[in-house]
Amino acid sequence: MKVRVLQNLEAISREAAAVFKVAAKNCIALKGSFAAALSGGSTPRRFYTLLGSEKYIEKIDWSCVHLFWADERCVSKEHEDSNFRVAFETFISKVPLPASGIHRIKGEKEPEDAAMEYEDEIKGFFGKKALPVFDLIILGVGEDGHTASLFPDSTALKDTLRLAVPVYTDRGNRVTLTLPVLNNAEQILFLAAGSSKAEVLYEILEGKNRKKYPAGLVKPTMGKVTWLIDTMAAGKLKRGQSLKD
Ligand code: 6PG
Repeated sequence: MKVRVLQNLEAISREAAAVFKVAAKNCIALKGSFAAALSGGSTPRRFYTLLGSEKYIEKIDWSCVHLFWADERCVSKEHEDSNFRVAFETFISKVPLPASGIHRIKGEKEPEDAAMEYEDEIKGFFGKKALPVFDLIILGVGEDGHTASLFPDSTALKDTLRLAVPVYTDRGNRVTLTLPVLNNAEQILFLAAGSSKAEVLYEILEGKNRKKYPAGLVKPTMGKVTWLIDTMAAGKLKRGQSLKD
């Protein structure tokens, strides 16, 4: 695991866009496709906006890109809380990504139906047998240590059989990828910025009880994990830059 402490959110966003571009280029060169899963929240918005900017439109062969989501809120794709809508408005609407490259979680459906359909969508792309291997999964972290829609003490954290599950919370229902899928990824990129994340980042990255936090349970067996955090979010870290496990 690598922790990179960068100056601010802009620096994190630029680095994330560069990581996405390089991963896409390498995967497309190697196997003709690139499958990434995106998260919602506020942190990745600038990163997504950069992907839709002149600089990146030509640099990525969007015809070979397949976008999935790490999680989605159970709302319509037009709803302001929709993770798909955030990605659509910031870059999907601006890049030549074919409709066949969009593997949306249908938040407008009943959570259980949406989760089952999404699992079929994932299997349709990766095959039915083994766990999917996403080339890149973009994750954030909440102040409670949640990631995707895997919240502390939630039953979703224990699900080792399904690829995607419904999550029922008092802040609205969601669908999320499960830990086995996250931990089977080729590459995980966590983005975190701001002082509000400093405490939970210390607990996850340097504390004695990282497994108490869902984000602390993300440790791909083969893939690599990089945390891109700004100086504010790193405020309580003692070991700082390029921490290695
Ligand atoms: C979501 C995200 C969620 C997010 C964290 C951090 O759908 O909300 O997937 O896991 O990454 O809550 O959100 P911020 O980036 O807004 O701090």
